[in-house]
Amino acid sequence: MEIRKVGVMGCGLMGSGITQVAAQAGFPVTVLEVSKEALQAGLKRIDQFLTGGVAKGKLRPEDKEATQSRISGVTAYGALRDCDLVIEAVVEDLATKKQAFRSLEESLKPEAVIASNTSSLSISEMAAVTSRPQRFVGLHFFNPVPLMKLVEVIRGLQTTPEVEAAAVAFTRALGKTPIRTSDRPGFIVNRLLVPYLLDSIRALEEGVGSIVDIDQGMKLGCGHPMGPLTLNDLVGIDTTYHIANIMFEEFRERRFAPPPLMKRMVLTGLHGRKTGRGFYDYSSEPARPNDFLCPGARGGKEPGA
Ligand code: 3HC
Repeated sequence: MEIRKVGVMGCGLMGSGITQVAAQAGFPVTVLEVSKEALQAGLKRIDQFLTGGVAKGKLRPEDKEATQSRISGVTAYGALRDCDLVIEAVVEDLATKKQAFRSLEESLKPEAVIASNTSSLSISEMAAVTSRPQRFVGLHFFNPVPLMKLVEVIRGLQTTPEVEAAAVAFTRALGKTPIRTSDRPGFIVNRLLVPYLLDSIRALEEGVGSIVDIDQGMKLGCGHPMGPLTLNDLVGIDTTYHIANIMFEEFRERRFAPPPLMKRMVLTGLHGRKTGRGFYDYSSEPARPNDFLCPGARGGKEPGA
């Protein structure tokens, strides 16, 4: 089972990253978006990252050009028909994903493998709406995709060993390190990471420490590359909230329950870096902690004190 031509459904934060790393690894990639505007925004994100790579001396200008020449942006599912592997990276909503698979399969060749980049939904359940549950697998990338080395390879209940092996080989061809996991909510990484991210918000709510001190604690005390509240902002508070709700629904354990502050931040559009504000305000450099979130945000002092 050889993967030569790759398709990606969705050119958002994750889809554009997956498109980029596959094209950088030498695969021709066809990336699909629902609208021309969304497609342009995704392709622009890729261009910005590659331009940054050239500026940092990490990439030769000719490699940037070669990478971009391997990417075709499309808005019609039919353009994916010849792909050997199609990776779904559309919004984390089961109904939307199921509909995308149905549209894809109207033209996709029967021997192609379909993968989902879901972070929390069931691979087996999505596979069941397709005509090829044995050729369906999870490929979970991490944000920012071009910089993070890991990919979780998730076997659904019906995924064949050959398809799992092909998925593992593909992630290695991208220069990533695969880990294998079974189809349980959150897989390996989010099962451990999500309670940690939620607990950092609970610690803030309870006044255990300020935003900056909680982040410094885990950065300098545990050697993490960024603190948990900064990481909440990077992943997207709405995204983690959504994943946490799915995991809470499944496990019914408090550690997966989103704290009230998180819900309020989601409802008021404080989603992190993508909206410019979350636990930090990104309107100026360096980002400033958002003191108004709760008394704990400033180490117990009321805003303005
Ligand atoms: N092109 C090429 N290389 C680039 C680049 C670009 N445009 N931009 C940055 N880089 C390189 C840098 O040169 C540097 O390389 P070096 O180590 O060889 O010097 C490296 O990437 C790191 O970049 P920076 O120095 O600019 O930034 P940081 O050192 O602050 O690292 C980070 C940034 C990699 C994001 C780091 O902070 C990190 O690992 N954070 C944690 C991220 C994380 O945990 N992600 C997972 C989230 S969970 C998830 O995604 C799952 C989902 O389901 C929720």
